[in-house]
Amino acid sequence: MKILNIVGARPNFMKIAPVMAAMYAHADIEPVLLHTGQHYDENMSEQFFRELNIPYPDINLGIGSDSQAKQVAKIMEKFDDVCNKEKPDIILVVGDVNSTMACSLVAAKSGIKLVHLEAGLRSNDRSMPEEINRLVTDVLADMLLTPSEDASRNLLREGISPEKIVCVGNIMIDTLYHFLPLSAKSKILEKHGLKEKEYILLTMHRPSNVDQKEQLERYFDAFNIIQKKIPVIFPVHPRTMKNIDAFGLDRKIRTMHNFIIENTLGYLDFQKLTSCSRLVITDSGGIQEETTVMKIPCITLRENTERPITVSMGTNVIAGSDTDKMLEYVDAALNGKWKSGKVPEKWDGRTAQRVIDAIVKGMSG
Ligand code: UD1
Repeated sequence: MKILNIVGARPNFMKIAPVMAAMYAHADIEPVLLHTGQHYDENMSEQFFRELNIPYPDINLGIGSDSQAKQVAKIMEKFDDVCNKEKPDIILVVGDVNSTMACSLVAAKSGIKLVHLEAGLRSNDRSMPEEINRLVTDVLADMLLTPSEDASRNLLREGISPEKIVCVGNIMIDTLYHFLPLSAKSKILEKHGLKEKEYILLTMHRPSNVDQKEQLERYFDAFNIIQKKIPVIFPVHPRTMKNIDAFGLDRKIRTMHNFIIENTLGYLDFQKLTSCSRLVITDSGGIQEETTVMKIPCITLRENTERPITVSMGTNVIAGSDTDKMLEYVDAALNGKWKSGKVPEKWDGRTAQRVIDAIVKGMSG
């Protein structure tokens, strides 16, 4: 069984790593890895392959950045040629980035079986590009592998037939458990003179948060207040960095002496920072899940989440873009007033095996 596995952007890499390892270990599976090149900077792409022992991609489409639609169109055009040449039995896509949706469309048009890993997540907010990617991918997929039962229920509600859906658990948590011992050795705290539980980790890159000057400035006014109470470390995504420069916010940041700007970090340094932090403030999807597993308080700077289980069971709260609410939550966390949270079922480090079992069973049946 020849399986063509697709990655494109940073959050895909930690999801494909355990899947590739499990596929290589299976006698009847011939895995091929394709990188669309959506993310291409060394620190957004290649370093994750090295750190997570992901085999070098067999194929790289070298797409790069563009508008949403053009990026999707370029991927589709090149991926169509790959499918004609490689003739895979199955295409496996992960997550919800543009590469995920673009390759799903080609799979469906080419009549190749499509498996979506991390299916069923819904923010119900179509202004997010990822929500469009999730909806399109899930409607096309032949097999939908979900991280939790609430995601399976979303799919059933949308009329997807139950025999296509398997709850396999959270694949990213396989990677987290596997690499936590190695990340414990990272020297990132020493590099910045940070002490365990005495700093906040911040990440922010969503277009809705960083693309408008007034909104971004409002956030930095609030971060300025926070960094007077406790150091804040901020590994900055390239999109955010560009906007900070374009809006002239770099001058303001230079006056914030407890606010540490870092480049985007590799997986091991980042997990070390997360696991030792007092609190994480983020607009990422995956970080909401990782903090829930590590039982670290998390404030999400979005109006909604496609991962509501991290709020209902885990350590996550939603602050939206309301900076007063964020400041209230920060004070609660600094005063130790936070829910303890539970780890959802099947977020146990054994998802990759369930993925393989589901594919082998599903495709032979
Ligand atoms: C993408 C995903 C998002 C994910 C995020 C993680 C989509 C729609 N969005 O958003 O879900 O959370 O990745 O990082 O697929 N850039 C670089 N170097 C790179 C890649 C990008 O400088 O290696 C810059 C470019 O200016 C580019 C911008 O970042 O225009 C945005 O990149 P893009 O891939 O369009 O989306 P992300 O914001 O990274």
